[in-house]
Amino acid sequence: MILITGGAGYIGSHTHKLLASQGRHCRIFDNFSTGHKDFVKWGELVEGDLLNPADLNRAFVGGQIEAVIHFAAKAYVGESMENPAKYYQNNVTGTLNLLTAMQAHGVDKILFSSTCAVYGVPNQVPITESEVPRPINVYGRTKRMIEQILEDYSDAYRLKYTALRYFNAAGADLDLEIGERHQPETHAIPLAIEAAMGLRPSFTIFGQDYPTPDGTCIRDYIHVADLARAHQLALDRLLAGGDSLKVNLGCNQGLSVLELVQQVKELSGRDFKVVQGQRRPGDPAELCADNQMASQELGWKPQFEDPRSIIKSAWDWHQKENH
Ligand SMILES: NC(=O)c1ccc[n+]([C@@H]2O[C@H](COP(=O)([O-])OP(=O)(O)OC[C@H]3O[C@@H](n4cnc5c(N)ncnc54)[C@H](O)[C@@H]3O)[C@@H](O)[C@H]2O)c1
Repeated sequence: MILITGGAGYIGSHTHKLLASQGRHCRIFDNFSTGHKDFVKWGELVEGDLLNPADLNRAFVGGQIEAVIHFAAKAYVGESMENPAKYYQNNVTGTLNLLTAMQAHGVDKILFSSTCAVYGVPNQVPITESEVPRPINVYGRTKRMIEQILEDYSDAYRLKYTALRYFNAAGADLDLEIGERHQPETHAIPLAIEAAMGLRPSFTIFGQDYPTPDGTCIRDYIHVADLARAHQLALDRLLAGGDSLKVNLGCNQGLSVLELVQQVKELSGRDFKVVQGQRRPGDPAELCADNQMASQELGWKPQFEDPRSIIKSAWDWHQKENH
């Protein structure tokens, strides 16, 4: 049995669906703070909070847990700067509680949802895993701290971990059973889609004077189905005795915010208002993953390399959600 914390959320539910389709037994642990009950469709559910050790204990009782996939976290950069205590408690203390429960129940394998936010402003793009992490916001710092805790536990105890450093997750399940439903939404693709659907009055571009070809920030979008498959491969690697690892998950392909807006307009056939906003503090000009390590260590390559295919699946999901 695989324990999935945060399995009622966006990336966790897609990973759960993939594992369940392969006949694996999964147990979801979630407090539904940002997750959704209707996204828990396949496995067992233990409703509980990482901050409550008694809840975590229940998650490990009944059926041997082979490994944990740990998605559960708070993940809003802006909120993390305004309320760091919430982020250090939920993400760092919550993960320490999870590791304590794992030790108590003899579970020694964990996949962890890390992020490209651990890199801060990188020295080199595309970013390799040898780039020294220097996170520039509280959210990124919580994720880097957890990586360091995992390094220390891996050195001192029997624990083996894989920290998966996702770039920008986007898109939805092709069957449209689940998809991206963040409230509030802060990710660029769903925001542009909501503007195209008339659910928002406009789409704001934060800064058009970056040192990029069109002046807007460049990001690396990865389809959530490709992320799910990377988790399955990383899980199989750990279960086969693989060593601890930190690895980027991105497509090594940058899309500027202006290009994204253009593609959403073309795909939807709808024009929408685009507002020029100020740069946001802590937004690096370009974040793009070197994904060679994922290819070598996990045998993973993205199947949705064209950003249009990612935007299309997100569009289809939002059409379904809003009709
Ligand atoms: N979405 C992205 O682009 C992206 C990029 C990089 C990293 N990540 C990381 O991936 C993970 C999943 O992201 P997502 O977009 O699916 O987020 P999400 O908010 O949809 O999912 C997080 C889930 O964790 C649950 N949760 C949060 N705190 C909890 C707690 N204390 N106890 C129990 N459950 C708790 C929530 O209810 C939710 O179901 C997060 O760790 C996030 O930091 C996401």
